[in-house]
Amino acid sequence: MTVSILLDKRIVLGVTGSIACYKAVDLASKLTQAGALVDVVLTESAGRFVTPLSFRSVTGRPVHDDLWNLDDHVRHVRLGEAADLLVIAPATAQTLAKLAHGLADNLLAVTALAARCPLLVAPAMDGGMYEHPATQANVRLLRERGVLFAGPAEGRMASGLVGTGRMVEPAELLGHIRLALGRNGPLAGRRVVVTAGPTEEPVDPVRFLSNRSSGRQGLALAQAALDAGAQVTLVAGPIGEALPVGVEHVPVGTAVEMRDAVLAAVARADALLMAAAVADFRPAQVAQQKIKKTVAETDDLAITLARNPDILAEVKAQKEKSGRPLVTLGFAAETENALAYGRDKLERKGLNFIAVNDVSAADAGFAVETNRVILLSADGSRVEMPLQSKAAVAEQLVQHVADSLETLSSQQRN
Ligand code: PMT
Repeated sequence: MTVSILLDKRIVLGVTGSIACYKAVDLASKLTQAGALVDVVLTESAGRFVTPLSFRSVTGRPVHDDLWNLDDHVRHVRLGEAADLLVIAPATAQTLAKLAHGLADNLLAVTALAARCPLLVAPAMDGGMYEHPATQANVRLLRERGVLFAGPAEGRMASGLVGTGRMVEPAELLGHIRLALGRNGPLAGRRVVVTAGPTEEPVDPVRFLSNRSSGRQGLALAQAALDAGAQVTLVAGPIGEALPVGVEHVPVGTAVEMRDAVLAAVARADALLMAAAVADFRPAQVAQQKIKKTVAETDDLAITLARNPDILAEVKAQKEKSGRPLVTLGFAAETENALAYGRDKLERKGLNFIAVNDVSAADAGFAVETNRVILLSADGSRVEMPLQSKAAVAEQLVQHVADSLETLSSQQRN
């Protein structure tokens, strides 16, 4: 599936000699499937671990592995100048040293010198080599110069030793690449709070009341905001999905915990995107011990519920006092009269936008990969979005929020 932030982006992928080279093939494949144009530059020692054919097969593009190609003697300049991002993965201690000191004895090193785009490196080496003062000094120097780092991760290395030096996994590296490409997006410099997932309201030490939210729509919003360059705080109930690289994760359990975390986070935020499915009620009393089957004299057991705080209503009150967050977007999960109920929630909760989804549909709403929403705005406008991936829905919603923030900024300037 293509990913907007990667579509038609020119990525030069430098691969240097480490056993982690096999992960670079997977990375090149993932980037290509996401729509990027990947030009691989292999060092001589990388070519001993993997062949150019492996990369050519997954990228469909020529692989560069020879500095002295007489037919194309300025390849390093051409590759470096055209690139949106130079990624070196795996990056050995030797390559970090070359980059730090401007050595230019192979095609990758000269390409790195010629490139004017950001450089992201994913180190891979044995733990002792990474900890060595020489490597650490090179890492510091490169960071000071603005080079971006992904990892290294901790774990078992090829030597059998355990330590810090493993190349990060391709899926995580993809997240770092998205962050690097999105840095100057429409939400650069903005703080965005996203909520995702269900809340869990305890009944006793082993039971709780919850709902079917998987967190996917909220995670897609967080990823879309990151792609647009925002600093993202994700306040999430219990979800089993991987989190986007780069979010500040605030895990919560109950609606009350989510309320406290959201009110704290939005105090400095530009926007709040509230996709969480918050329980409206919680058990009024939480039993201290597991409730036994024999507790009730009949076959029925009644649990009294108490009303949970309405988080968006409290955000509205805070916004009226402090002005933050500047823009709020809520969701309305409806099974009937979706537009009327959505419009009512938009007004009652003082939102700028509400994304209404019909959660009775089998292909939209809770725990599926797709969604179909109607976006209602406080200015009375309405945008109908067809059935599409939650990622595509999220991108459009984030674009509306970014436009709204931009309009507010230009009103303040005039
Ligand atoms: O997580 P997924 O499986 O991907 O599913 C996505 C989703 C269906 C959960 C999502 O698209 C969605 O609709 N989220 C909102 C669910 C919901 O609680 O809707 P609501 O109509 O009950 O609430 C309206 C708004 O008020 C929501 O933004 C909700 O977060 C917020 N709310 C609700 C209750 C409460 N006590 N406080 C709130 O702030």
